Amino acid sequence: MTTARPVPALPDGVTVEELERLCVEVAVEASRFIRDERPPRMGVAATKSTETDVVTVMDRRSEELLHRLIQAARPDDGILGEEGADVTGTSGLTWVLDPIDGTVNYLYEIPAYAVSVAVVVGDAHSQGGWTPVAGAVADPCRRLVHHAGRGTGAWTSPEDPTESVAPERLSVSAEDRLARTLLATGFGYAPEVRARQAEVLRRVLPLVRDIRRIGSAALDLVRVAEGSVDAYAETGLNAWDLAAGWLVVEEAGGVVVGAGEEPGSAPGTALTVAAGPALVDQVRALFVAPVDAAG
Ligand code: IPD
Repeated sequence: MTTARPVPALPDGVTVEELERLCVEVAVEASRFIRDERPPRMGVAATKSTETDVVTVMDRRSEELLHRLIQAARPDDGILGEEGADVTGTSGLTWVLDPIDGTVNYLYEIPAYAVSVAVVVGDAHSQGGWTPVAGAVADPCRRLVHHAGRGTGAWTSPEDPTESVAPERLSVSAEDRLARTLLATGFGYAPEVRARQAEVLRRVLPLVRDIRRIGSAALDLVRVAEGSVDAYAETGLNAWDLAAGWLVVEEAGGVVVGAGEEPGSAPGTALTVAAGPALVDQVRALFVAPVDAAG
């Protein structure tokens, strides 16, 4: 069963619309930056959790840029970023940033990566303790930005606001049968996590139309929102991978849930499932069944 999420209160004088506009502005600026300023022969700058969990110089520079722009516009807000930004604010709002989501694609020049920027209410460090109120996922390769504000719908706009192309409203697919579901998923960086994810897929793959591993959780969520996949499920995500995409899916009429038993449990590291209302519980059931039941 799924329920609509309550709209959290914003600080006095702050509107969802202005936060959404700022999300779009800064995400597009970082998106242009990682596309247009990519150094020639760019390599790996460092590794994080495992040898396959890479950081490029542009992940760091993109986060620095976002940090600067947000602090200039909203100096009292907190900031939490994948590459280490961790500022405690005083306004009750925190910006949750993935400066390049899909870093491995970026490294290999596979055109599926994004900049993800969200504003959340609550404690961004605690699983289930926060809710997104505005967000943008900027796609440098398609020169588009997908965005939403709580209660304002989900939209795709050209990255160049002077282009005379009207924003397109997003809406999730109406698919209600697993056998016809195109399911996006992804894998963590740790070998033991991947081994478990492979076991789950062994059970899931025969039951769905097919799976897609696109390589950017933010873009996977946008695809659910625009109906270009029917569902998405992944374990191991961090707040920055999912914060903006979560809101975009909900504002496109979809449902995003986690592993918890309670209705509408928050998505997060244990599990993130996104789909239309007729499908989401069926997909979730596949991913919460014990792994040793695979076969
Ligand atoms: C990763 C991507 C990938 C997902 C991983 C994420 P990153 O983010 O979103 O699709 O499968 O779980 O960590 O490391 O490229 O920012």
